[in-house]
Amino acid sequence: MSEISEAAAPAGAAGSHAAPLQDRGLLRFITCGSVDDGKSTLIGRLLYESRALYDDQLAALESDSRRWGTQGEAIDFALLVDGLAAEREQGITIDVAYRYFATARRKFIVADTPGHEQYTRNMVTGASTADLAVILVDASKGVLTQTRRHSYLVSLIGIRHVVLAVNKLDLVEYSQPVFERIVAGYREFAARLGLQQVTAIPISGLAGDNIVVPSARTPWYAGPTLMHVLEHCEIDEERMQRGPLRLPVQWVNRPNPAFRGYCGTLAGGRLQPGERVRVLPSGRESRVARIVAFDGDQAQAVAGQSVTITLADEIDIARGDMITAADSPAEVADQFECTLVWMSDEPLLPGRSYWLAIGAKVVGATVSELKHRVDVNSLEPLAAKTLELNGIGVANVSLAAPVAFDPYRDNRDTGGFVLIDRTSNQTVGAGMLHFALRRAHNIHLQALDIDKAARATLMGHKPAVLWFTGLSGSGKSTIANAVTRRLHAMGRHTYVLDGDNVRHGLNRDLGFTDADRVENIRRVAEVARLMADAGLIVITAFISPFRAERQLARNLLPEGEFIEVHVDTPLEVAERRDVKGLYAKARAGKLPHFTGIDSPYEPPEAPELRLDTVHCDAEQAAEQVVARLREAGLIA
Ligand code: ADX
Repeated sequence: MSEISEAAAPAGAAGSHAAPLQDRGLLRFITCGSVDDGKSTLIGRLLYESRALYDDQLAALESDSRRWGTQGEAIDFALLVDGLAAEREQGITIDVAYRYFATARRKFIVADTPGHEQYTRNMVTGASTADLAVILVDASKGVLTQTRRHSYLVSLIGIRHVVLAVNKLDLVEYSQPVFERIVAGYREFAARLGLQQVTAIPISGLAGDNIVVPSARTPWYAGPTLMHVLEHCEIDEERMQRGPLRLPVQWVNRPNPAFRGYCGTLAGGRLQPGERVRVLPSGRESRVARIVAFDGDQAQAVAGQSVTITLADEIDIARGDMITAADSPAEVADQFECTLVWMSDEPLLPGRSYWLAIGAKVVGATVSELKHRVDVNSLEPLAAKTLELNGIGVANVSLAAPVAFDPYRDNRDTGGFVLIDRTSNQTVGAGMLHFALRRAHNIHLQALDIDKAARATLMGHKPAVLWFTGLSGSGKSTIANAVTRRLHAMGRHTYVLDGDNVRHGLNRDLGFTDADRVENIRRVAEVARLMADAGLIVITAFISPFRAERQLARNLLPEGEFIEVHVDTPLEVAERRDVKGLYAKARAGKLPHFTGIDSPYEPPEAPELRLDTVHCDAEQAAEQVVARLREAGLIA
């Protein structure tokens, strides 16, 4: 789709009262409703009416305006609507269709999002920057489940203005009681969702009633037309400009040692040289020295603009930090409650480490607790262990480092985030921060006098975690046992954490779903860390089928202390051995989610050691492990 550009617009078009296109405010809005509600007709009507009014300029708004007739050519309304509907059909499974139009007052981008439940993710994407939502209701059908679901999403995304467009009024003979009944019911529901500004308008997209000019067929309606609301409602950016200063630092520009510019898009407030600022998360304060632009310095900048600023003091600021107003800084925390919208075919796995991107900051994060999911149709909270594609839930997230943030309801830019899969780099979820968990403020790491180094000295060896991974029946426990026997004989302090044993105690509550396996390994990784901290050589023997969690375990330990050992036994061999008879059971369909059969195993890509159990026995494999420990200098 084309960007709105002024370049091609003929001078003086659209009458003398219209400001140049680049000076007109931009309102982003979404339309919600199914095809049956007349969404395409309404969008067509808006394009058509604005085109009829300001035809000359519209050529500049669409690069491929040929599709709908070029400048001056008469546009057929029905054809236009058909074109939109066909396009929407084609695009329905993939994305959000954006349309552009303008009037003398404003430019508009409308995101037309598919309405079905399976496209929740598309709607959230299309709506994430919207200032207003037009929710369409068919006057002959009234408020439907879908209307409620869309309204819930609109409230979730933080859209402040809702237009309830009661459409197809021509079908109910422009009846005032029908309109009022629908509106009364909707208002009650909207109040529950906390939607504050709802403007209800009786319209007919087809006949054009109350779209641009007040309709003579609804003399009982004295409110604004749809276009009037679109032209006059407050743009979110204007509201953000009144808020406190927020500048997420996207990058630091250091062309020479004398110049240090901080670049980013202002996510709130205004900025002037001399203003006191606080840099988060460090909390250091300084003053704005300059706002640097291409053609000299600027006197001020406002929310929505991209800027480069310099500060009066040399302080350490990195990409991802946030420059805020000194007298109303953002909060800083590393644990939050949030709402999550899941966008991936792979379900959410609480305990798994994802990347969380907020503002310009990217940090490791896990969903520490999924509190509930929300039934998007009834809005009921439901118990849940995971979120599937398009699922919405309330969760606690825990970050690897503190970040500066605002609650999402105050600032969508500094309070909204996305979760990214660490392996595929795909966006898997979108979130809205509610508040920092109090525990994040009150739990501090306790420094203890006797530390890891002191304990290691007494033990006479360095601690380490030998992380065995491999299929069930690959020989992990047998080799672990042989290794620990050897180390014990050498006077080393060891401990074996074994899947079958730990699952009888600490992890008794966990089964074999992906989510449970993630939690199993997360806990084991934490226990292994504590034991290594206590000074032991820890050997873990878990299938640990996922790379992400093995990486998490690795990240918990200093470089060199984590040794990943792939007990590499092919499935056929493990299955042939079938020491516990579990493969036979799994093949018979009596043991669901069995690793290698109907549950995945992701082999390590670069383990410190790979043991080939086909060509050597457990004792030989153990010997290789001990040799590796010696090589690494962990034992003498
Ligand atoms: S892990 O995947 O979460 O790392 P873990 O190593 O703790 O698994 O447990 C695996 C052991 O549990 C296997 O060796 C086997 O004895 C037993 N087990 C029972 N059900 C399953 C299953 N569905 N998949 C794999 N192992 C299972």
